[in-house]
Amino acid sequence: MGLKILITGGLGYIGAHVCAVLHQKGYRIVLMDNLSNSFLQMYHQLITLLGEQSLEFEKKDISRPDEVKELFRKHSDIKGVIHLAALKSVNQSIAQPLSYYHNNVGGLITLLSEVKSKNIPFLFSSSCTVYGQADQLPIKENTSLKPSFSPYGFTKQVGEQIIKDTAKANDSFKAMSLRYFNPIGAHPSSLIGEWPIGEPQNLVPYITQVGIGKRKELKIFGDTYDTTDGTCIRDYIHVMDLAEAHVLGLETLFSSNSNHYVYNVGLGKGVSVKEMVSRFEKVSERPIKYKISKARKGDVPIAYADASRIRHQLNWQPKYSINDALLSAWNWEKYLHSNNDHKE
Ligand code: NAD
Ligand code: UFG
Repeated sequence: MGLKILITGGLGYIGAHVCAVLHQKGYRIVLMDNLSNSFLQMYHQLITLLGEQSLEFEKKDISRPDEVKELFRKHSDIKGVIHLAALKSVNQSIAQPLSYYHNNVGGLITLLSEVKSKNIPFLFSSSCTVYGQADQLPIKENTSLKPSFSPYGFTKQVGEQIIKDTAKANDSFKAMSLRYFNPIGAHPSSLIGEWPIGEPQNLVPYITQVGIGKRKELKIFGDTYDTTDGTCIRDYIHVMDLAEAHVLGLETLFSSNSNHYVYNVGLGKGVSVKEMVSRFEKVSERPIKYKISKARKGDVPIAYADASRIRHQLNWQPKYSINDALLSAWNWEKYLHSNNDHKE
């Protein structure tokens, strides 16, 4: 029987895909989620994809010490933790900073207090948001971090620091922060994918909802940036490749002597918003209506990764192109639509 891994935030977008990949590699899985930004239906989707016996689900909150303790009491055989549970809306974090600090920083501390003495590896979802507008492109892990524009971004910087300090103080605590660039796309089965509650905040789910006719038009946030076509540039990466990076990260922590790592996870290719729209139109054969609206506060003009560290040290080899990712996101949107399941 495979080792049992806890995925916090496991019913969210990235968590569900990490779950699918871990299962494929033979791990046993416990998903913990408080459903604050996901649907219970995602659990049923995972069961359909992976089978009835493939995972256990615990509806619990990482910021509640009693619930975290209870979970580890019940699953005393957990051998690794992938920590994805967090609130993730930049705008909402500006309006509700205390919820973000409580959930993302308080939750992390609660979880670490339980995990740090158990001698089990810990993987943390960080973000390229920690770099702000980097002085140097492509962005390397040692590029200096900028003070964060939003409480959300700050929770990732503080989270990384808390993990680093905890690893420094406890040799047996092994941890890794993965700095995701822009995950997009869906599982090849189209049974799981990004499933926003209400109006999507991110580019690709917005585009797919315009494509299916659920939204009238995309608003492109600004076209006067100093980039090729004036729109922002990002490093989009297929969520399945990102999920693979988690498995490699976990396996590295199991086998290595060092106890703290930081990796960028991106394809290393900068693509503009307008280019994403035309790529989507090409793969979906649907026109996407858009209008240019004012720039979104806090957006950095350009971010793309130098991901050579993870490629070389973990032998991470992304398999999917941006167009593959867009097509999979489109297939998932069509699946949701045909199953009448697009909840608000
Ligand atoms: P998501 O919102 O889809 O998933 C997060 C899940 O965590 C949700 O299911 C939510 O219900 C759960 N959750 C939130 N607070 C919780 C709590 N206190 N207790 C238990 N469960 C809780 O987000 P995602 O896109 O899958 O992101 C996962 C992680 O990756 C987050 O930490 C996010 O900050 C980070 N990240 C995401 C992106 C991105 O573009 N999606 C980029 C960089 C980093
Ligand atoms: N955009 C639009 N219209 C939209 C949505 C987005 O023009 O309706 C633009 C944004 O201005 C940006 C680009 O599309 O230029 C990508 O925007 P996303 O919101 O999809 O992604 P971000 O790069 O802003 O942020 C995402 C996550 C953050 C995370 C960050 C870095 O939302 O949580 O990636 O990993 F921190």
